[in-house]
Amino acid sequence: MSARDLYTTPVASTTWEVPASGAARFSWDYDDGRERLLSLYQKGKDKQWDSMKRIAWETEVDPYDALGVPDRSIAIFGTPHWERMNERERADVRRHVASWQFSQFLHGEQGAVICASRLVESVPDLDAKFYGATQVMDEARHVEIYSKFLREKLELIYPINDKLGRLLSDTLSDPQWDMPYLGMQVMIEGLALAAFGLIRDMTTKPLPKQILAYVMQDEARHVAFGRLALREHYRHISDAERREREDFVIEGCYLMQDRLRGTEVWENFGISEKESKALLDNSEAHKMFRGLLFSRLVPCVRDIGLWSERVQGVFADLGVLDLARQDLEVLMRQDEEVAEKLETEAARAEEQARKEEVDAVIAEAAAE
Ligand SMILES: [Fe+2]
Ligand SMILES: [Fe+2]
Repeated sequence: MSARDLYTTPVASTTWEVPASGAARFSWDYDDGRERLLSLYQKGKDKQWDSMKRIAWETEVDPYDALGVPDRSIAIFGTPHWERMNERERADVRRHVASWQFSQFLHGEQGAVICASRLVESVPDLDAKFYGATQVMDEARHVEIYSKFLREKLELIYPINDKLGRLLSDTLSDPQWDMPYLGMQVMIEGLALAAFGLIRDMTTKPLPKQILAYVMQDEARHVAFGRLALREHYRHISDAERREREDFVIEGCYLMQDRLRGTEVWENFGISEKESKALLDNSEAHKMFRGLLFSRLVPCVRDIGLWSERVQGVFADLGVLDLARQDLEVLMRQDEEVAEKLETEAARAEEQARKEEVDAVIAEAAAE
């Protein structure tokens, strides 16, 4: 079946055009670049992987319980709407929620391919272009993976959330080279990364766990680059330029807060946007969930130096200011370790299976 037929609501067009502006920049300075950027580039090259081989795609997935997460993680759990539903309807909710989450990851990752390639085009330094080129490849792989998971395992795709779409088009239509990076790497992927982490740690199913852990291993490099490049750049910008970027972060945070409500899912179950918004805004569980989802974004914004009282005020308003103290280095290292551990376990399981196969053949031959 074509992906077009899997959308919950038919997409009007299979392409979306966002007008772009700004310069493509060449650099004639071929001398060695900055050491830390080049070592990230080297790491990016060393850690390339093939999603067709590394992920156990043959693993069966029940589309009605793809993630195996507790029902209380579903936003409408415990409400009269949930209580009224029979088991079949609840299974349908599980499938839609998982599809919606992974669809937004998918569209966001496509945004990341495009933003990373914009960065390669427009960033002035060659070392950053080199690094960006590895990220373009990483992001392409992420699109490939999420798309395959949705098409083959869930067989249901949600269109892009309109708030996510707006943040993406704001991000891409700005002519300055750092804006796609700020919008994509810090805001959109910062939030997505926290969501990946939550699901990775909550899911009881091996395939989504593998997918998320391996994608996060790449993202650890992307965040490290974003922090390095932006922190340095933002040291030298004017007050007006800083203010413009802070405005962008503030607007982006409110858009992301809206995006997290996922009202389009609930509309498919007869719950109006107004009602689901009220339900979620009064739900302690959703507030906690939202807090967790800002856990990567807030320390990163602080780290790159967009940390005025205004920005802090917005984070306080969203109830996420305390997260600024999170240590991103530690989180990133953990992300890499989780992926490495999973890979070792998978390799060991494969070795064991092969050994058993050989033992069976030997036993069979001896019995003849
Ligand atoms: Fe990505
Ligand atoms: Fe990324």
